[in-house]
Amino acid sequence: MELHISKKAAQVSPSPTLSIDAKFKQMKKQGVPVVGFGAGEPDFDTPDNIKDSAIEAIKAGVTKYTPASGTVELKQAICKKMHRDYGLDYDPANIVVSNGAKHSLTNVFTCICDPGDEVIIPIPYWVSYPEMVKLADGVPVYLETTEEQDFKFTAQQLKEAITDKTRALVLTTPSNPTGMIYSREELKEIAKIAVENNIYVVFDEIYEKLIYEGEHTNIATLGEEIKELTIVVNGMAKAYAMTGWRIGYTASNAALAKAMSNVQSHATSNPNSMAQYASVEALEGDQSAIDVMKAEYVKRRDYMVERINSIEGLSCKKPSGAFYIFMNVKELLGKKHYGKTIHSASELCDDILDRALVALVPSEGFGIEGYVRLSYATSMESIQTGLDRIESYIKGECKA
Ligand SMILES: Cc1ncc(COP(=O)(O)O)c(C=O)c1O
Repeated sequence: MELHISKKAAQVSPSPTLSIDAKFKQMKKQGVPVVGFGAGEPDFDTPDNIKDSAIEAIKAGVTKYTPASGTVELKQAICKKMHRDYGLDYDPANIVVSNGAKHSLTNVFTCICDPGDEVIIPIPYWVSYPEMVKLADGVPVYLETTEEQDFKFTAQQLKEAITDKTRALVLTTPSNPTGMIYSREELKEIAKIAVENNIYVVFDEIYEKLIYEGEHTNIATLGEEIKELTIVVNGMAKAYAMTGWRIGYTASNAALAKAMSNVQSHATSNPNSMAQYASVEALEGDQSAIDVMKAEYVKRRDYMVERINSIEGLSCKKPSGAFYIFMNVKELLGKKHYGKTIHSASELCDDILDRALVALVPSEGFGIEGYVRLSYATSMESIQTGLDRIESYIKGECKA
Protein backbone atom coordinates (compact mmCIF):
# COMPACT_ATOMS: atom_id res chain seq x y z
CA MET A 1 0.00 0.00 0.00
CA GLU A 2 1.39 3.39 -0.92
CA LEU A 3 0.82 5.83 1.90
CA HIS A 4 0.69 9.42 0.85
CA ILE A 5 2.78 12.15 2.47
CA SER A 6 2.42 15.69 1.14
CA LYS A 7 5.33 17.10 -0.86
CA LYS A 8 5.57 19.93 1.62
CA ALA A 9 5.99 17.61 4.60
CA ALA A 10 8.21 15.14 2.80
CA GLN A 11 10.82 17.81 2.07
CA VAL A 12 11.26 18.69 5.75
CA SER A 13 14.26 17.12 7.40
CA PRO A 14 14.21 16.51 11.16
CA SER A 15 15.89 19.13 13.36
CA PRO A 16 19.55 18.01 13.44
CA THR A 17 20.12 19.54 16.84
CA LEU A 18 17.17 17.71 18.36
CA SER A 19 18.24 14.44 16.69
CA ILE A 20 21.75 14.70 18.11
CA ASP A 21 20.37 15.47 21.52
CA ALA A 22 18.01 12.49 21.26
CA LYS A 23 20.92 10.20 20.28
CA PHE A 24 22.98 11.55 23.19
CA LYS A 25 20.14 10.99 25.68
CA GLN A 26 19.55 7.49 24.32
CA MET A 27 23.24 6.56 24.71
CA LYS A 28 23.24 7.96 28.23
CA LYS A 29 20.17 5.93 29.09
CA GLN A 30 21.98 2.80 27.92
CA GLY A 31 24.77 3.59 30.36
CA VAL A 32 27.32 4.84 27.77
CA PRO A 33 29.46 7.53 29.48
CA VAL A 34 28.92 10.05 26.71
CA VAL A 35 29.50 13.80 27.15
CA GLY A 36 27.06 16.10 25.38
CA PHE A 37 27.77 19.51 23.89
CA GLY A 38 24.67 19.30 21.74
CA ALA A 39 21.86 20.69 23.80
CA GLY A 40 20.46 24.15 23.30
CA GLU A 41 19.02 23.82 26.74
CA PRO A 42 20.13 25.36 30.05
CA ASP A 43 21.38 22.68 32.42
CA PHE A 44 19.92 24.68 35.33
CA ASP A 45 16.58 23.82 36.81
CA THR A 46 13.65 26.25 36.52
CA PRO A 47 13.87 28.64 39.50
CA ASP A 48 11.70 27.65 42.49
CA ASN A 49 9.54 30.76 42.50
CA ILE A 50 8.40 29.88 38.96
CA LYS A 51 7.74 26.23 39.81
CA ASP A 52 5.81 27.22 42.94
CA SER A 53 3.71 29.55 40.89
CA ALA A 54 2.71 26.74 38.51
CA ILE A 55 1.76 24.53 41.47
CA GLU A 56 -0.32 27.37 42.87
CA ALA A 57 -2.00 27.70 39.44
CA ILE A 58 -2.95 24.03 39.38
CA LYS A 59 -4.33 24.18 42.92
CA ALA A 60 -6.29 27.33 42.14
CA GLY A 61 -7.91 25.68 39.12
CA VAL A 62 -6.06 27.58 36.41
CA THR A 63 -6.57 24.47 34.35
CA LYS A 64 -8.99 25.60 31.68
CA TYR A 65 -8.76 27.12 28.22
CA THR A 66 -7.44 30.66 28.19
CA PRO A 67 -7.86 33.14 25.33
CA ALA A 68 -6.17 31.52 22.30
CA SER A 69 -3.36 34.06 22.06
CA GLY A 70 -2.62 34.12 25.79
CA THR A 71 -3.99 35.52 29.04
CA VAL A 72 -4.35 39.26 29.52
CA GLU A 73 -2.17 38.97 32.65
CA LEU A 74 0.74 37.44 30.74
CA LYS A 75 0.37 39.84 27.82
CA GLN A 76 0.45 42.73 30.28
CA ALA A 77 3.53 41.28 31.96
CA ILE A 78 5.22 41.06 28.53
CA CYS A 79 4.28 44.68 27.76
CA LYS A 80 5.73 45.77 31.10
CA LYS A 81 8.91 43.81 30.39
CA MET A 82 9.30 45.46 26.99
CA HIS A 83 8.88 48.86 28.63
CA ARG A 84 11.21 48.05 31.52
CA ASP A 85 13.97 46.58 29.36
CA TYR A 86 13.78 48.75 26.26
CA GLY A 87 11.35 51.64 26.87
CA LEU A 88 9.15 50.09 24.16
CA ASP A 89 5.43 50.66 24.46
CA TYR A 90 3.17 47.82 23.38
CA ASP A 91 -0.26 46.89 24.54
CA PRO A 92 -1.85 43.44 24.79
CA ALA A 93 -3.24 43.76 21.24
CA ASN A 94 0.37 43.61 20.00
CA ILE A 95 1.24 40.41 21.85
CA VAL A 96 0.65 36.77 20.91
CA VAL A 97 1.70 34.09 23.40
CA SER A 98 2.45 30.72 21.81
CA ASN A 99 3.78 27.23 22.56
CA GLY A 100 7.42 28.24 22.59
CA ALA A 101 9.29 30.69 20.38
CA LYS A 102 9.39 28.00 17.70
CA HIS A 103 5.63 28.14 17.48
CA SER A 104 5.76 31.96 17.49
CA LEU A 105 8.08 31.81 14.50
CA THR A 106 5.89 29.41 12.56
CA ASN A 107 2.95 31.76 13.17
CA VAL A 108 5.04 34.66 11.90
CA PHE A 109 6.05 33.02 8.62
CA THR A 110 2.54 31.66 8.06
CA CYS A 111 1.12 35.15 8.42
CA ILE A 112 3.66 37.15 6.41
CA CYS A 113 4.41 34.83 3.46
CA ASP A 114 2.32 34.33 0.36
CA PRO A 115 3.55 31.54 -1.94
CA GLY A 116 6.90 32.51 -3.42
CA ASP A 117 7.58 35.37 -1.01
CA GLU A 118 11.20 35.60 0.04
CA VAL A 119 12.61 35.67 3.55
CA ILE A 120 16.25 36.62 3.97
CA ILE A 121 18.15 34.38 6.37
CA PRO A 122 21.80 35.05 7.26
CA ILE A 123 24.15 32.06 7.40
CA PRO A 124 24.95 30.44 9.78
CA TYR A 125 21.30 30.26 10.79
CA TRP A 126 19.40 28.56 13.54
CA VAL A 127 18.41 25.24 11.97
CA SER A 128 14.65 25.70 11.96
CA TYR A 129 14.25 29.02 10.10
CA PRO A 130 14.57 27.71 6.52
CA GLU A 131 12.27 24.75 7.15
CA MET A 132 9.69 27.03 8.77
CA VAL A 133 9.78 29.45 5.84
CA LYS A 134 9.37 26.60 3.36
CA LEU A 135 6.44 25.19 5.32
CA ALA A 136 4.81 28.60 5.03
CA ASP A 137 5.28 28.44 1.21
CA GLY A 138 8.01 31.08 1.41
CA VAL A 139 11.45 30.92 -0.17
CA PRO A 140 14.54 31.29 2.02
CA VAL A 141 17.20 33.59 0.56
CA TYR A 142 20.56 33.23 2.22
CA LEU A 143 23.23 35.78 3.12
CA GLU A 144 26.69 34.26 3.30
CA THR A 145 28.98 35.46 6.06
CA THR A 146 32.50 34.59 7.13
CA GLU A 147 34.25 34.07 10.42
CA GLU A 148 36.43 37.11 9.63
CA GLN A 149 33.30 39.28 9.67
CA ASP A 150 32.18 37.62 12.94
CA PHE A 151 29.51 35.76 10.93
CA LYS A 152 27.60 39.01 10.53
CA PHE A 153 26.27 40.21 7.18
CA THR A 154 26.92 43.70 5.86
CA ALA A 155 24.39 46.36 4.93
CA GLN A 156 25.55 46.06 1.32
CA GLN A 157 24.84 42.32 1.27
CA LEU A 158 21.37 42.94 2.62
CA LYS A 159 20.63 45.60 0.01
CA GLU A 160 21.72 43.29 -2.79
CA ALA A 161 19.54 40.42 -1.55
CA ILE A 162 16.31 42.43 -1.45
CA THR A 163 13.88 41.92 -4.35
CA ASP A 164 10.27 42.93 -4.86
CA LYS A 165 9.32 39.57 -3.35
CA THR A 166 11.21 40.10 -0.10
CA ARG A 167 8.91 40.10 2.89
CA ALA A 168 11.31 39.83 5.79
CA LEU A 169 14.80 39.56 7.18
CA VAL A 170 15.44 37.18 10.05
CA LEU A 171 17.82 38.62 12.61
CA THR A 172 19.01 36.65 15.62
CA THR A 173 21.05 38.46 18.22
CA PRO A 174 22.76 37.03 20.17
CA SER A 175 23.08 34.39 17.51
CA ASN A 176 22.53 30.70 17.69
CA PRO A 177 24.95 29.13 16.62
CA THR A 178 27.72 31.77 16.81
CA GLY A 179 26.94 33.77 19.97
CA MET A 180 27.74 37.00 18.11
CA ILE A 181 25.71 40.14 18.72
CA TYR A 182 24.82 42.98 16.36
CA SER A 183 25.82 46.41 17.62
CA ARG A 184 23.49 49.39 17.81
CA GLU A 185 25.29 50.97 14.85
CA GLU A 186 24.92 47.83 12.72
CA LEU A 187 21.25 47.57 13.65
CA LYS A 188 20.70 51.22 12.68
CA GLU A 189 21.93 50.50 9.17
CA ILE A 190 19.78 47.38 8.93
CA ALA A 191 16.73 49.24 10.22
CA LYS A 192 17.21 51.97 7.63
CA ILE A 193 17.29 49.42 4.81
CA ALA A 194 14.26 47.56 6.18
CA VAL A 195 12.25 50.78 6.37
CA GLU A 196 13.33 51.96 2.90
CA ASN A 197 12.21 48.64 1.44
CA ASN A 198 9.21 48.09 3.69
CA ILE A 199 10.28 44.64 4.86
CA TYR A 200 9.69 43.05 8.22
CA VAL A 201 12.51 42.27 10.61
CA VAL A 202 11.85 39.03 12.44
CA PHE A 203 13.91 39.90 15.49
CA ASP A 204 14.68 36.77 17.48
CA GLU A 205 16.07 37.89 20.82
CA ILE A 206 15.53 34.69 22.77
CA TYR A 207 19.12 34.92 24.13
CA GLU A 208 18.81 38.60 25.05
CA LYS A 209 19.44 38.00 28.78
CA LEU A 210 22.61 36.01 28.11
CA ILE A 211 25.07 38.69 27.08
CA TYR A 212 28.60 38.69 28.47
CA GLU A 213 30.19 41.49 26.48
CA GLY A 214 28.70 44.48 24.76
CA GLU A 215 25.09 45.48 24.88
CA HIS A 216 21.90 44.10 23.42
CA THR A 217 19.87 46.54 21.37
CA ASN A 218 16.31 45.78 20.42
CA ILE A 219 15.96 47.03 16.84
CA ALA A 220 12.41 48.27 17.47
CA THR A 221 13.85 51.00 19.70
CA LEU A 222 15.46 52.68 16.70
CA GLY A 223 12.38 54.56 15.49
CA GLU A 224 8.61 54.38 15.04
CA GLU A 225 8.77 53.07 11.47
CA ILE A 226 11.12 50.20 12.25
CA LYS A 227 9.04 49.40 15.33
CA GLU A 228 6.00 48.85 13.05
CA LEU A 229 8.06 46.51 10.90
CA THR A 230 9.72 44.62 13.74
CA ILE A 231 8.32 41.32 14.92
CA VAL A 232 10.03 40.67 18.24
CA VAL A 233 10.28 36.95 19.00
CA ASN A 234 11.16 35.84 22.50
CA GLY A 235 10.30 33.21 25.09
CA MET A 236 10.87 31.83 28.55
CA ALA A 237 13.06 28.86 27.57
CA LYS A 238 16.59 30.23 27.69
CA ALA A 239 16.49 33.10 30.21
CA TYR A 240 14.47 31.22 32.83
CA ALA A 241 15.57 27.64 32.11
CA MET A 242 12.00 26.83 31.06
CA THR A 243 12.55 24.84 27.86
CA GLY A 244 9.92 22.23 28.69
CA TRP A 245 7.22 24.71 29.64
CA ARG A 246 6.76 25.84 26.04
CA ILE A 247 5.98 29.54 26.30
CA GLY A 248 7.12 31.96 23.61
CA TYR A 249 5.70 35.22 22.39
CA THR A 250 5.78 37.89 19.72
CA ALA A 251 5.39 41.66 19.90
CA SER A 252 4.37 43.13 16.56
CA ASN A 253 1.99 45.53 14.89
CA ALA A 254 -1.60 44.82 15.94
CA ALA A 255 -2.80 43.71 12.49
CA LEU A 256 -0.20 40.97 12.30
CA ALA A 257 -0.83 39.99 15.94
CA LYS A 258 -4.53 39.59 15.09
CA ALA A 259 -3.72 37.40 12.07
CA MET A 260 -1.38 35.20 14.14
CA SER A 261 -3.95 34.95 16.91
CA ASN A 262 -6.57 33.79 14.38
CA VAL A 263 -4.21 31.15 12.95
CA GLN A 264 -3.27 29.94 16.41
CA SER A 265 -6.91 29.77 17.50
CA HIS A 266 -7.41 27.00 14.92
CA ALA A 267 -4.02 25.32 15.17
CA THR A 268 -3.44 24.89 18.89
CA SER A 269 -5.78 27.14 20.90
CA ASN A 270 -4.02 28.59 23.94
CA PRO A 271 -0.60 27.61 25.25
CA ASN A 272 -0.63 25.68 28.54
CA SER A 273 -2.58 27.65 31.15
CA MET A 274 -0.35 26.88 34.17
CA ALA A 275 2.80 27.62 32.20
CA GLN A 276 1.33 30.99 31.23
CA TYR A 277 0.51 31.70 34.86
CA ALA A 278 4.05 30.80 35.93
CA SER A 279 5.50 32.91 33.12
CA VAL A 280 4.00 36.00 34.76
CA GLU A 281 6.02 35.12 37.86
CA ALA A 282 9.10 34.53 35.68
CA LEU A 283 8.83 38.00 34.15
CA GLU A 284 7.75 39.89 37.26
CA GLY A 285 9.29 37.96 40.14
CA ASP A 286 12.86 37.77 41.40
CA GLN A 287 15.29 37.94 38.48
CA SER A 288 18.43 36.98 40.41
CA ALA A 289 18.51 33.42 39.01
CA ILE A 290 19.48 34.89 35.63
CA ASP A 291 22.61 36.47 37.12
CA VAL A 292 23.57 33.19 38.78
CA MET A 293 23.26 31.32 35.46
CA LYS A 294 25.08 34.07 33.57
CA ALA A 295 28.01 34.03 35.99
CA GLU A 296 28.34 30.30 35.45
CA TYR A 297 28.01 30.52 31.66
CA VAL A 298 30.72 33.15 31.45
CA LYS A 299 33.17 30.97 33.39
CA ARG A 300 32.49 28.04 31.11
CA ARG A 301 32.75 30.15 27.98
CA ASP A 302 36.10 31.58 29.01
CA TYR A 303 37.49 28.17 29.85
CA MET A 304 36.30 26.67 26.58
CA VAL A 305 37.56 29.46 24.36
CA GLU A 306 41.00 29.29 25.90
CA ARG A 307 41.16 25.52 25.83
CA ILE A 308 39.90 25.19 22.24
CA ASN A 309 42.38 27.74 20.97
CA SER A 310 45.19 25.83 22.66
CA ILE A 311 44.38 22.57 20.82
CA GLU A 312 46.13 22.13 17.51
CA GLY A 313 43.69 21.98 14.61
CA LEU A 314 40.91 23.80 16.45
CA SER A 315 40.09 27.47 16.88
CA CYS A 316 37.17 29.67 17.83
CA LYS A 317 36.18 33.26 18.35
CA LYS A 318 34.97 34.45 21.71
CA PRO A 319 31.18 34.69 21.58
CA SER A 320 29.51 37.69 23.24
CA GLY A 321 26.27 35.99 24.19
CA ALA A 322 23.98 32.92 24.18
CA PHE A 323 25.65 29.64 25.24
CA TYR A 324 27.33 28.36 22.11
CA ILE A 325 30.82 28.21 20.70
CA PHE A 326 31.19 27.89 16.95
CA MET A 327 34.44 26.02 16.60
CA ASN A 328 36.47 26.03 13.39
CA VAL A 329 37.54 22.48 12.46
CA LYS A 330 38.66 23.15 8.88
CA GLU A 331 42.25 22.14 9.60
CA LEU A 332 41.07 18.65 10.53
CA LEU A 333 39.07 18.08 7.35
CA GLY A 334 40.38 16.34 4.25
CA LYS A 335 42.88 14.52 6.49
CA LYS A 336 43.17 10.98 7.73
CA HIS A 337 42.01 10.23 11.26
CA TYR A 338 42.30 6.68 12.51
CA GLY A 339 43.01 5.50 8.98
CA LYS A 340 39.99 7.14 7.40
CA THR A 341 39.76 10.47 5.58
CA ILE A 342 37.28 12.79 7.24
CA HIS A 343 35.72 15.11 4.66
CA SER A 344 33.12 17.10 6.53
CA ALA A 345 32.14 18.43 9.93
CA SER A 346 29.35 15.86 10.13
CA GLU A 347 31.73 12.97 9.45
CA LEU A 348 34.02 14.39 12.10
CA CYS A 349 31.21 14.68 14.66
CA ASP A 350 30.08 11.11 13.95
CA ASP A 351 33.61 9.81 14.41
CA ILE A 352 34.14 11.81 17.60
CA LEU A 353 30.87 10.48 19.00
CA ASP A 354 31.84 6.90 18.17
CA ARG A 355 35.45 7.02 19.30
CA ALA A 356 35.60 9.70 21.97
CA LEU A 357 31.99 9.60 23.21
CA VAL A 358 31.42 13.31 22.79
CA ALA A 359 28.24 14.63 21.16
CA LEU A 360 28.75 17.72 18.99
CA VAL A 361 26.61 19.46 16.38
CA PRO A 362 28.17 19.75 12.91
CA SER A 363 27.68 23.05 11.09
CA GLU A 364 25.98 21.72 7.95
CA GLY A 365 22.60 22.08 9.68
CA PHE A 366 23.39 25.77 10.16
CA GLY A 367 24.09 26.20 6.44
CA ILE A 368 27.89 26.35 6.56
CA GLU A 369 30.70 23.81 6.27
CA GLY A 370 33.78 23.48 8.46
CA TYR A 371 32.50 24.26 11.95
CA VAL A 372 31.10 22.47 14.96
CA ARG A 373 28.75 23.95 17.53
CA LEU A 374 29.38 23.26 21.21
CA SER A 375 26.87 24.28 23.81
CA TYR A 376 28.22 25.30 27.20
CA ALA A 377 24.88 24.79 28.86
CA THR A 378 26.44 21.83 30.58
CA SER A 379 28.53 21.42 33.74
CA MET A 380 32.15 22.54 33.98
CA GLU A 381 33.09 18.95 34.77
CA SER A 382 31.49 17.69 31.55
CA ILE A 383 33.12 20.51 29.61
CA GLN A 384 36.57 19.56 30.92
CA THR A 385 36.04 15.86 30.25
CA GLY A 386 34.58 16.55 26.81
CA LEU A 387 37.46 18.77 25.75
CA ASP A 388 40.01 16.31 27.13
CA ARG A 389 38.43 13.62 24.98
CA ILE A 390 38.33 15.80 21.87
CA GLU A 391 42.00 16.61 22.37
CA SER A 392 42.83 12.90 22.73
CA TYR A 393 40.83 12.16 19.60
CA ILE A 394 42.79 14.70 17.60
CA LYS A 395 46.08 13.38 18.96
CA GLY A 396 45.12 9.89 17.75
CA GLU A 397 44.86 8.49 21.27
CA CYS A 398 41.34 7.06 21.00
CA LYS A 399 40.47 3.48 20.11
CA ALA A 400 41.15 2.72 16.47
C1 LIG B 1 17.48 31.28 18.03
C2 LIG B 1 16.38 30.47 18.60
N1 LIG B 1 15.11 30.88 18.42
C3 LIG B 1 14.08 30.18 18.92
C4 LIG B 1 14.28 29.02 19.64
C5 LIG B 1 13.07 28.25 20.12
O1 LIG B 1 12.81 28.38 21.46
P1 LIG B 1 11.60 27.66 22.18
O2 LIG B 1 12.16 26.58 23.00
O3 LIG B 1 10.92 28.74 22.99
O4 LIG B 1 10.67 27.14 21.12
C6 LIG B 1 15.58 28.56 19.86
C7 LIG B 1 15.81 27.29 20.58
O5 LIG B 1 16.81 26.65 20.49
C8 LIG B 1 16.65 29.31 19.33
O6 LIG B 1 17.92 28.91 19.51
